[in-house]
Amino acid sequence: MRLEQVLPWGRSLKEYRDMFGLTQAELDLQILDCAGGPASFNAEMTALGKRVVSCDPVYQFSAEQIAQRIDEAVPQIVKSVEANREKFVWTGIDTLDELLRIRLTAMQTFLADFPQGLQAGRYRQDALPQLPFPDRAFDLVVSSHLLFTYSEHLSLDFHIAAITEMGRLAPDVRIFPLLMNMTGERSPYVDPVIEHFQALGYTLQIQTVPYEFQRGGNQILRLLSAPAGN
Ligand SMILES: C[S@@+](CC[C@H](N)C(=O)[O-])C[C@H]1O[C@@H](n2cnc3c(N)ncnc32)[C@H](O)[C@@H]1O
Repeated sequence: MRLEQVLPWGRSLKEYRDMFGLTQAELDLQILDCAGGPASFNAEMTALGKRVVSCDPVYQFSAEQIAQRIDEAVPQIVKSVEANREKFVWTGIDTLDELLRIRLTAMQTFLADFPQGLQAGRYRQDALPQLPFPDRAFDLVVSSHLLFTYSEHLSLDFHIAAITEMGRLAPDVRIFPLLMNMTGERSPYVDPVIEHFQALGYTLQIQTVPYEFQRGGNQILRLLSAPAGN
């Protein structure tokens, strides 16, 4: 991975709770965050005594390198949000300044936690579609703003391989959102992914969640499989 290819943009624990429809009880599960990037989910959850591991190839870089990449990427992201203002829902996050404040706070929280989290094995530079954990190592896998979001760069085969891997690691996998980044349209991979896993006997659900910033982006795809041994 080259760092200049990554658009680092990380969300907070509150946003993760809403994006994935996480209940208070679910926060106590052993959770894997795939493509965690500079989100503060892991840092904030750890501070609350919860158990989260985050995987992302960007964790091969140092906190200083990631911080520099965030600084470079912010103007680019601001420009893109400004040019596409009508594609976002400006309630909850009311202004571009508020958006920047929330995102930069989350990313600073991540950066402050990253060195110790790396040492503790909470941040791992592993990349989908192959993760080095035993079957059912987690209760829940969450993944936001990679799959479906970047459908123009990632193939259907990659999506299926990545979701297969996440389904191997936990009986409950939640992917947010179902929309593509640029167009804001639903990813053309959603239906083929559902058909593929339904044919294999998984239960799939599209659930509406209490988070919508990208207009229409308020749904997760949930992949449920029987616990190991059943
Ligand atoms: C936009 S960020 C999303 C961060 C976080 N999930 C959130 O919603 O705030 C997308 C992340 O996907 C990561 N990524 C890219 N390819 C990946 C792969 N093959 N496996 C895991 N993560 C990957 C990037 O490094 C980047 O940090």
